[in-house]
Order: sequence, then structure tokens, then C-alpha cells
Amino acid sequence: MEIINRKQRIASLTRKLRRENKTIGFVPTMGALHEGHLSLVKEARQMCDVVIVSIFVNPTQFNDKTDLDKYPRDLAGDAALLAEFQVDYVFAPDEREIYGENFSTFVYVENLTETLEGASRPGHFRGVATVVTILFNTIRPDFAFFGQKDAQQVAVIKRLTKDLGFDTEIVVHPIVREESGLAMSSRNARLSEEERAKASIIYKALRETKIAFRNGERNASKLAEIVRQMVESEPLAMLDYVAVVDNETLENVEKIDDTEVLVAVAVNFGKIRLIDNIILNKKQ
Ligand code: PAF
Repeated sequence: MEIINRKQRIASLTRKLRRENKTIGFVPTMGALHEGHLSLVKEARQMCDVVIVSIFVNPTQFNDKTDLDKYPRDLAGDAALLAEFQVDYVFAPDEREIYGENFSTFVYVENLTETLEGASRPGHFRGVATVVTILFNTIRPDFAFFGQKDAQQVAVIKRLTKDLGFDTEIVVHPIVREESGLAMSSRNARLSEEERAKASIIYKALRETKIAFRNGERNASKLAEIVRQMVESEPLAMLDYVAVVDNETLENVEKIDDTEVLVAVAVNFGKIRLIDNIILNKKQ
């Protein structure tokens, strides 16, 4: 496995791989790798000839400087883990390599980025869309792998891939869960033992919604109410939002027909904000 820091070097390498008709799988990350990331790497390894993982803590997607400063960084540890999973290249640029002098071009995906997570993290998706555009443009992968846990990010990336004409297929990997059902996230480690156990209420509530849907409930507000009531029954949980939206446009849905619908939820446990979701009417 080789660690590459320069855009020019990874671009010329992937150009060569394309000429050799090798399929390139790309997993963008900010490091601090956990099971969720590794499941993406495993899928990339199965599907593609060459696997590239990027590790870049992207400053433009943080709206809080303290969060950015506190973000865990352990390139050596992450790289050792990726070597075990037969990754071919790690792209680990520094900030100046991605955002050169006088950088002033940003990618803003309209309509999808101001609600849900975007409402409490202004500018976050502009940062994500910008860095992913730069990475796609540099690497030009055949497949890029993202986790379903960040459902809004998935919608944004799919939109920009289509709109900007990238020849990259977006592969979305299902949410990886702890035994209790809690969606895996690097934030879980910051929960107390009690909070972590109680946080399983989030997935229980989403599952209850799915059962109601299977039993014929099509009214979005009623489905959202199931989540709200269950989450609010847990004293340690502070519900931020529960939304029932179209899985592609993220527009609110009132009555569910046969299109894919996302039930997305954000809940605070103390200072830790957790997100989770399920898709109703999921197409294969
Ligand atoms: O999901 C993430 O870790 C980041 O948002 C991404 C896609 C690597 C962009 O910085």
C-alpha cells in the first residue's frame, strides 16, 4: 500500500490505471476509521481492481472551529488498518494541496442542503460537495462508496455527480449497527455507558415506524409521530427532528405512495448528536 500526498501524483496514477482498464473504487473519509468505513472498504475491495481511500479532515465542512481542531487524527493508525484490508492507495493530502492559494470556488447543491442536518450545520454540505468534487475530479473513480447513515450526504453526492456529469457510480452501503441496533458512529465512543445503552431507542423507534408502514400506515405525520413519541419516552434523549421526506429530493412527503421515502432522525444525548434513518419502499 502506498500513501500519496499530492493531487498530481494520484491523478497521473489513476490515469494510468484507466488506460490499463482497471476499475477504480474510491472511499472518501476523514480518517478516525471505524467499522462503518471498513464495511465500505470491504465492498470496494470486492467490486474493484484498485481501491483508493482518501483521508482528509476537510476544514470547509466544519462550521465550528473547535470541532475541527478536536477532530481525531491518526494517519499512521488508519493507514495500518487499511493495509490489513488490502487497500492499494491512501490519498492523504494536506489542506494546501486541496485548497490552494486564493481558493475561491465552491460547489453549492441547491434545495438539498439547507434542511435536516444542514439546518443545524450551516455551510456543512457546501464544504462536503466542494471537497468531493475536487476528489472526484482528481481521482475519477468508477465507483465511490458512501454510508447510508449520512443519508442527506448521499442525496447531495448523487445530485452533484449527476449534475456535474461525473462518470462515477455512487454505491451506498447499508447502515452498520451495534448489537443494540445503535448506528455505528465515531461519536458513540463519546456517550456514557448509560447513554449508549439508551440510544438504542432511536433504532427501535425507526423499526416501529417500518412495522406501522408494513401494516398499511401511509400518513407521513402519523409515522413521524411514532418516532417522536418513542424517542421522547426516553428521558436522556432530546429529539432534534424527525422528518419523512422523498429519498432523492428530500422534500417533505405527506402521503406515501410507491416512491422511496426516507425517515430521518437526529437526537441529542447530552452534547452528542446522533443521526439515523430508514428507507421505506426501498428499491433494490
Ligand atoms: O463522510 C465523510 O467522512 C465526509 O463528509 C467526506 C465524504 C469524506 C467528505 O469530507
